[in-house]
Amino acid sequence: MKIDAFLTPRLLPPRFEGAICVVIDVLRATTTIIAALANGAREVRPCLNAAEVRRSVKAGDDTTFLLGGERKGLRIPGFHLGNSPAEYLDSSQISGRVIYFSTTNGTPALRRAYKGSGRPVYLAALVNLSAVSSAIVKAAVNNAPERICLVCAGRHGKPSLEDLYCAGLIAQRLQSELAESGISPEPSDAATIAIAYSRVNQEKTLAVLTESEHGRYLQSIGFSADLEFASQIDKYDTAPCFDGKRIVIGPE
Ligand code: MLT
Repeated sequence: MKIDAFLTPRLLPPRFEGAICVVIDVLRATTTIIAALANGAREVRPCLNAAEVRRSVKAGDDTTFLLGGERKGLRIPGFHLGNSPAEYLDSSQISGRVIYFSTTNGTPALRRAYKGSGRPVYLAALVNLSAVSSAIVKAAVNNAPERICLVCAGRHGKPSLEDLYCAGLIAQRLQSELAESGISPEPSDAATIAIAYSRVNQEKTLAVLTESEHGRYLQSIGFSADLEFASQIDKYDTAPCFDGKRIVIGPE
């Protein structure tokens, strides 16, 4: 089974029906969405932009919603919450809520992955590394897709080190867990690059994040704590999925 990595969503082919896709945006969209769901959010609706968030809320009949997201790393004016995982940890505020969410690179990557594959898309970050890897292997065993696509959200159409690193760690786990399940893994060249980068930096998780371009930007605008949060490997044992409308925890 092919394990493919796309260092930005722009590198995806127009269609990749049936592939198992996982979207990675370590800094910070997938980390934040995973934290929100782990702290009791009912669902997250990934939107392409702020206008779509506002339209969706008007069209919906849900009164328990929150609006979340960022532009240039900062909360969108008029929204309740930004894109810092720290804002989504208080269960008394988050529990049971539907969160309409828009970020610069992460939420468009989720929508793109769903559009191209036509099947539920997993959300990955360092905080759910083992849980998401096991969920992908389970889905691969059950569905026997031709390939697994690790889609890095990247930054403004360019690769980012933290997503490449996470993709490599996932690919390493997939290689061994697929083999244990009797499936022969075939990493693409891009997946092999990701694996090599993650092996070289295996013990330097926080440094990968602090030295990356987006990590440096987030530190410059006061979000150093988010990098520490995002670097916590396996903090959560959940593998959320996007079904084309909403992101929830649980099996597809
Ligand atoms: C994005 O989707 O581009 C982000 O998650 C950026 C951020 O807020 O760190």
